[in-house]
This record gives sequence, C-alpha cells and structure tokens, in this order.
Amino acid sequence: MSFDLDSKTRRRLGYKMIDWVDEYFSSLPDRPVQLPIEQRTFAALADRMPEQGQEAEAVLNEACQELIDKGFHVPAANYFGLMNPTPAYLAVLAETLVAALNPQLASLARSQLASKIEAETVRWIGERVGWRVPFDGTFTSGGNEANFSALALALAWRFPEVVESGLASLSKPPVLYASSEAHHSIDKSAGLLGLGRRALRRIPVDDRIQLDPVRLESTIQDDLKQGLQPFAIVASAGTTNSGAIDDIPALADLARRYELWLHVDGAYGAAVIFSDHHRNLVRGIAQADSVTIDPHKWLAMPFAAGVLLTSHPEMLQKTFGVSTPYMPHASSLPLLDNFKISVQWSRRMNSLKLWLTLRVHGRLAYEELIDQQLRLAESFADWTTKSREFVLAAPQILPIVNFCLKGPARDSEAAAAAHARIASEVCADGRLWISETRVAGNSVLRMMVISYLTEEKHLQSLQRALIKAARKI
Ligand SMILES: Cc1ncc(COP(=O)(O)O)c(C=O)c1O
Repeated sequence: MSFDLDSKTRRRLGYKMIDWVDEYFSSLPDRPVQLPIEQRTFAALADRMPEQGQEAEAVLNEACQELIDKGFHVPAANYFGLMNPTPAYLAVLAETLVAALNPQLASLARSQLASKIEAETVRWIGERVGWRVPFDGTFTSGGNEANFSALALALAWRFPEVVESGLASLSKPPVLYASSEAHHSIDKSAGLLGLGRRALRRIPVDDRIQLDPVRLESTIQDDLKQGLQPFAIVASAGTTNSGAIDDIPALADLARRYELWLHVDGAYGAAVIFSDHHRNLVRGIAQADSVTIDPHKWLAMPFAAGVLLTSHPEMLQKTFGVSTPYMPHASSLPLLDNFKISVQWSRRMNSLKLWLTLRVHGRLAYEELIDQQLRLAESFADWTTKSREFVLAAPQILPIVNFCLKGPARDSEAAAAAHARIASEVCADGRLWISETRVAGNSVLRMMVISYLTEEKHLQSLQRALIKAARKI
C-alpha cells in the first residue's frame, strides 16, 4: 500500500481518529487511571515486523482500543499524579497540524512563519516573567533540556573560554548550588557538561522546604577558600516533591554579590506567572539570568514542550552558535536561526500548541485554571489538617499536598512502609492514582491537582479511599 493515500481514505481515517479522541476526552472525568492491579500484566512484545501492511482502519481501531483499554491515563481527572496534565484539545489539534506540515525549525529560511510564531510565544512568556526586551529563549523538549541549556549558558557566561577550549582550560574547578530538593536534571546536567555531578553542591532546606540562603553563603565562602570557582545558583520554583519555591530574591542577592548566574528551575511552578492573583509566589523571578518553564506541565500541553528563557540573549548564540557550509550564513530577518541558539538541530514545532491555545482561550483561561487548582489543593490540605488519620507534612504552596499518616514518626521506616501500603491500596483498583515520596528525607504521601478536569468531587473520592486504606492497614 502506497503512503500516498487518496483524499477519501485520508478523510475516513481522520474522522475515525477524531471520533476515538472525542470519545476518550468525554470519558476522562470518570475514567479509571489504569487497570485494576490483578489485570496489569502484559504479554511479552514478540510480534515480528510486518512485511506487508494490513487494512488501515482495522489497525487504527486495534491500536486505539488497546491503548485506551489497557493504558495508563495521565489525562484522567483522577490522576493526582506527577506533573503531567490533561492536554488542552486545541493543543491536540495543533499537534496534528504540526505533524502534517512538518516544519523544520532549525533555520528561519526553511520555517519562516513557524519560527516567528515560536519566537512570539517565547516573547509572550518572557513578558509574563516581567522582562522587557532584550531577552530571548527557545523551546525545548522539556525541563531536562532547558535546565541543561541554562547551565551551559551559565558556564559560558562565567568562563567564555570553555565553549572552545573546554573545562581543561580552567585553572580552578567550577561548582554550582541547588537545594537538596532540586530536580535531578541538575545532577545530570552537571555530569553531562563535564563538571561532574560532585560539582553540584546540594544545600539543605528549611521547614518551608526552601534552600537555606545562610547555609548557601557559607558553602560558597568555603568553596572559594578551597580554590573552587562558584558559577551558578539554581533556585527551584515548584519542587517536584512538594511544590516548594525557593526565596528567589535572597538567592538573587547572593548571586549578584558573588557574581553567579541565577537560574530558576520553574519547569512546573513558574507557570504561576500566568495568574495575576498568584504570580507573587515567584516574586523576584525577573531577577533571574535564566528561567525554565514547561508548558507540558501546568499549562496543559501534551508532550513535548519546554521553554528556556534568558535575560542575556547574546549568551544563546555565544554558547550554542555554530556555522555550517550547508546553511545560509546570514538572515535578513531580525531573528536568529534556532540551531544557533539551542542544543537542537532538527527541531519540531513545540510552540504551535501553546500559541494556538493562547489565541483561542487567552491568558485569562490559564489564570482561572491556576486559581482553581490552588483552591482545590488548599481545600485538600485543609482536609488533611482536620482529618483523624492524616497530618499535613509540608506547607502547601502550589497544588501539591504532602501528607503523612498520624502516628509513626515521620523519619521512621514504619512511616515509609505505611505510606507505601496506603499508596498501593489507593491505586489498587486503578480508579485513582497518588504517589509517595520523600521530602527533606522524610516519607510522605503526595497528591497534586494537575488536570483541568479535577473537581471537588474527585478530591472527596480520594479522601474516602485514603481513609479506607488507612483503616485497613
Ligand atoms: C522541577 C522540575 N524540573 C525539571 C523537570 C524535568 O522536566 P522534563 O520532565 O520536562 O524534562 C521536572 C520534571 O518533573 C521538574 O519537576
């Protein structure tokens, strides 16, 4: 069968697919997140690559049916999960268009309007950070790549010779700082940049799960005395475990005094800048040298969409710029080619979905989403403080709630074992999904509101399941 399907077949298959997606979306408010535990067994993947194709509609139906019936449904309203949202429908449509047009955003000459849309979306987000031009940024595959890129910028800013001559050209080893709760992409980046993971100094957090600036300053001073070269501080704006937000103004002050690059990892939490009512939670973010924000977390975008922004636009080209004989040397447009300002070469258009969603729903729809999810999380946190079974384990700042079973000491193995049993009881029938984790070394249960479909009634059903599980163990 040729890839060149006729118009009638394209329409028939396309409409069929839209029917599947539509039915799926209608099911999400009540859909179980996954199969009951006893059915979560999957046969080994032993099928051979087909030599000949089969009838398209039958294969599509089979794939949709299997994925929906046996899948793990991150978009379900009952997924109180990690930071993966229910995608906005406009974004789903945008992804179809991107796949069809397949714009190559590496260079402007070959993407033009698509690159301009991407740059415009970056500008919209940067303006919400509080910056006025000049600033710049780039879409990424997610927070991992954005954080990696930010640290590459920081390194090139502090030690320009590193871009061409590498770390071997430095007389003193560079070091950087983040809280003990910062995301592991920072460790990975330190390793991949050749700094070594040990160059990352993890600073303990206080009771609010914020990086302790006093401990940070004394570590910087010790490192300087040891002949090391501090070059960057990573502030978390929404930690993965608890949604904690570091004291950004205090860290900005230290960064200024010690000539360090301040990166804000707001992969999840920086989206709060979209709400005028709550943007003060990330007060000071405009003082950052770079910011990570992932639209595929709180902004209801499907994978993949991360953004790296910087208030030092010139550093993008200094860090990532290369020239090739097969690409145009200069462009008459005011924008730079994307391949010169980012890690990626071939680049898919990760921005259209956000641009289109903003065009159709507007920024205020995000404000409403953020405000509503914060209200729901507050109500859940309030429930834990009043509950007979549970206590709040960390301050609830963003729509993430950490809580513990009453009774066992928080740092005990008994608490960890009890939390693991509660999480597995709650998730056993597949309807709901929560997790357990450790915050500042202590075991906690963790729920978060991340779907725009989650309502109070979903929280109540989670509360009932939690009480039942707590009583059972
Ligand atoms: C705070 C934080 N930073 C970075 C990342 C990495 O983002 P991504 O998964 O998009 O690569 C995550 C992922 O959950 C995160 O929570």
